[in-house]
Amino acid sequence: MPSFTADAELDLLFPANLIPDSVKKALPQELHLRPLSSTDYHRGHLKLLTVLTQAPDTGYEQYFTQFSSTKAIPPAPQSYFTIVIVNRANDSLVGVGTVFLERKFIRGLGTVGHIEDIAVDKSMQGKKLGLRIIEALTAISERMGAYKTILNCSEANIPFYKKCGYELKEVEMVKYA
Ligand code: ACO
Repeated sequence: MPSFTADAELDLLFPANLIPDSVKKALPQELHLRPLSSTDYHRGHLKLLTVLTQAPDTGYEQYFTQFSSTKAIPPAPQSYFTIVIVNRANDSLVGVGTVFLERKFIRGLGTVGHIEDIAVDKSMQGKKLGLRIIEALTAISERMGAYKTILNCSEANIPFYKKCGYELKEVEMVKYA
């Protein structure tokens, strides 16, 4: 069984100190919340996402290219934040979520955070991990200056997001290519 890898040994998507300590401390001891790392492919990142939607195995090379183009390259402002919850016992991922920042020309060049792709492993659902992920992503969004944070979800997930402090507003439109 792979042993737990400390943050210092990982290539992280963004600085870990953007995740509030209060959310990290609210998790059980055996779980660790941190930014996505370039090697999380090997910790089951894509498999975890299959509880949400199709997430076919692209192979590590393509995964790494995607990670690298997502990681902020100074001086461009950081805009993409994926966090993961790791089970320390086997160094595998049990939760994941993303917030990305949209920089607008309205509202005095305001910033909006978009929450995307929240997934908690089936065996770990109902233990408040989803709630912690949303708390952490919302805090990151607000720390980065967003005046609001929004997301799209199914009707079935509305009660979950209400528990996380979100409210229903407007509707989603889509056109597939
Ligand atoms: N209906 C009603 N209440 C719910 C639901 C639901 N579908 N899901 C969670 N809750 C409630 C819980 O009971 C809990 O309430 P409590 O505080 O009174 O005990 C509260 O919401 C927090 O729940 P968590 O335990 O944090 O939820 P969990 O860790 O299971 O994560 C999630 C929820 C992310 C929806 C998970 O079930 C999952 O991964 N589902 C499959 C993928 C998915 O649908 N992802 C969200 C897509 S939308 C998006 O990505 C923006």
